[in-house]
Amino acid sequence: MNVYDSTRMRDALAVHGYQETSVPSKADVILVNTCHIREKASEKLFSELGRLAREKKKNALVVVAGCVVQADGVEILRRSKLIDIAVGPQNYHLLPELILKYQRKNGRVIRADFPAESKFDYLPIPQKSGASAFLAVQEGCDHFCSYCVVPYTRGCEFSRPMKEIVSEAKALVKAGAKEIMLLGQNVNGWHGDKGKDLGDVIREVAKIRGLKRIRYTTSYPSETTKNLILAHADTPKLMPYIHLPIQSGSNRVLKAMNRQYTVEEYEKVVAAFRKVRPDIAISSDFIVGFPGETEADFEETLKLVERVGYASSFSFKFSARPGTPASLMKNQIPEEIKTKRLMRLQALLLKQQRAFNEATIGKVFEVLLTEKGKGRGQLLGYSPYLQGTVVKAPVSILGEIVRVKVVGASATSLTAELVKQKNG
Ligand code: 5AD
Ligand code: SF4
Repeated sequence: MNVYDSTRMRDALAVHGYQETSVPSKADVILVNTCHIREKASEKLFSELGRLAREKKKNALVVVAGCVVQADGVEILRRSKLIDIAVGPQNYHLLPELILKYQRKNGRVIRADFPAESKFDYLPIPQKSGASAFLAVQEGCDHFCSYCVVPYTRGCEFSRPMKEIVSEAKALVKAGAKEIMLLGQNVNGWHGDKGKDLGDVIREVAKIRGLKRIRYTTSYPSETTKNLILAHADTPKLMPYIHLPIQSGSNRVLKAMNRQYTVEEYEKVVAAFRKVRPDIAISSDFIVGFPGETEADFEETLKLVERVGYASSFSFKFSARPGTPASLMKNQIPEEIKTKRLMRLQALLLKQQRAFNEATIGKVFEVLLTEKGKGRGQLLGYSPYLQGTVVKAPVSILGEIVRVKVVGASATSLTAELVKQKNG
């Protein structure tokens, strides 16, 4: 979502004549977009600001955007004199105006309210896109998991209407996108048009000529509808991949987390996806060391992972976030125990990821080549199952979808060779 927001801020500034550069020393305006989800993510802001202080032009404006501003705006301005403008995630469409305001007053500006009108109504139509593009269809969250800051930083759930999504998707395809990743903190809770759900959005977007692939993230397990599951069977452009965070394999911990499903219900949802699309890749998020998590609870998580079999995953140590109920819970778990549990869980998840990747050796599938690889003459692309795939290929086909044969696999990526392309 932050990558999406950054591109939208770039688009909003482009209208006013700004051009993107990745070299801080050249920039007139430096934008630092921040994440507040875990402590480590927020702390990055200050190390980044330290680096920028040394590299930036003397008069360059420093803008800090994102959820850290929403949560701690005044505090970060106090902590770093380098920041000129601070803007929360619901106000970034105002960035050009805030820059003008700063220049007029020559004073620091902060904007972090929840405006009544949607920022999406003010953002320009995207003119620029890579081969793979993000598109926010839903934002915010009403779930209030006891550990999570999102409902406070991004606000309550808001779904964009179907018409608006389709028109942004068309603009992205016109600008060069072949793949669109539909985004939302709770994407399968999309309710932008009465009586419709995310499955309908996917089918509608799939009608766009020139668009080849559709993905979506992140889904909340118990908000999965039959219609969405069926979309995996009837919409060939929808990629066989579902990110379905469970967080913990213990029902006791799930309850304390205020997750609104049980392990058994979660596994039923996984089975339903696999029924319509047996090859679907399943991924998840996990938190270890939630307050009160016992060794037995943690073992339940390992068992769940063994039963489901994940293609990829993200796993984290519980991070006590200010203002969340879980940060105040007794029985906080010592850091060493969290570290040990995370290492055990990640070892298992990585083993599964390697097995999943190795099972694709010898297969032929299509890869969307999105960027240059690290080695000379290499391009990096993504398989239908979102495996990073290194292909020896000329730069001239960057941005294309090509047929490849997988010849090697590691835990983190595939290597593949181009095979004769199908006509058309
Ligand atoms: N501590 C650790 N992990 C967290 N996540 C969200 N909040 C926290 C927290 N306080 C993780 C969850 C979520 C992912 C985006 O970040 O696993 O799914
Ligand atoms: Fe946070 Fe996701 Fe829970 Fe919403 S559903 S509160 S975004 S972890």
